[in-house]
Amino acid sequence: MRTFYFTGTGNCLQVARSIGAGGKLVSIPSFLREHDKDTERIIIADDAVGLVFPTYWLAIPPIVAEFLKRVRLETDYLFAVATRGNASLTLKSHLLQVARENGHSLSYFNKLSMPDNYLPLCDMAREKQRFSEDILAQRIEKIAGDIRARRHNVSGIAGLTFLRPFLMPTASREMADFSHRFSMDSTCTGCATCVRVCTAQSIRLIDDSPVFGNVCNGCLACIHNCPAGAIHMQGEKSPERYLNPTVKTADLMSANS
Ligand SMILES: Cc1cc2nc3c(=O)[nH]c(=O)nc-3n(C[C@H](O)[C@H](O)[C@H](O)COP(=O)(O)O)c2cc1C
Ligand code: SF4
Ligand code: SF4
Repeated sequence: MRTFYFTGTGNCLQVARSIGAGGKLVSIPSFLREHDKDTERIIIADDAVGLVFPTYWLAIPPIVAEFLKRVRLETDYLFAVATRGNASLTLKSHLLQVARENGHSLSYFNKLSMPDNYLPLCDMAREKQRFSEDILAQRIEKIAGDIRARRHNVSGIAGLTFLRPFLMPTASREMADFSHRFSMDSTCTGCATCVRVCTAQSIRLIDDSPVFGNVCNGCLACIHNCPAGAIHMQGEKSPERYLNPTVKTADLMSANS
């Protein structure tokens, strides 16, 4: 079994580790970078292949859509698990649409509420209190059990599909614009943590200060993992930051480098 994951603050890494235990875990940004020169679709053959990713703007993140476009999956069991904060109305219909457009047939889908790391909408202090770690672990284990048993689950209401065309352009535009919404304060120590966790490898240190490039996956790993709390996002609810308690910044560095 191979589980591909995308994460900014570790929620999806926690889920991927539990679900993918005993199999191979692969970071989607690193995988795509390794294959960036491949012009043919990349063949992935395994008994089970899974995706674990966060919800962005009620939809799947553009990098996950890109992954589904670039690969050919030779498997009898394709599963997907999305983490989300508070809302995921059109997520499932968007996932099914992107999968179908790229010739993939999903066997199992589930989603899981976890702390919402989107700073302009959520105060991280409140998000950290919203969930009990034990209950979350039980919910993750329930999904892991479904996947171990190779259960099928893609039925049910697919969501308000008609809204989707309005959402993805929004997501892409928002992300293209992300770095303009970031600002630095004077507490930056030049430690390069933001450079090393960036899922787009888009940050450079110039004179010990981060400079953001134009490419951005919108993951907020840079802001949440800065040890000095020196990066801010326009409209953020509070200066509090979030990292999934089962994950370390070093795990994100090795996942994304
Ligand atoms: C750019 C962005 C957009 C988001 N949009 C949504 C959303 O539409 N609905 C939602 O429930 N959560 C949303 N979230 C929250 C994440 O889906 C959630 O916190 C997820 O568990 C983060 O996973 P990670 O820790 O693996 O990065 C968003 C987060 C970011 C950074
Ligand atoms: S992680 Fe924070 S302190 Fe370190 S270089 Fe980046 S902005 Fe500066
Ligand atoms: S610049 Fe920040 S938000 Fe954008 S991809 Fe890199 S780590 Fe994620």
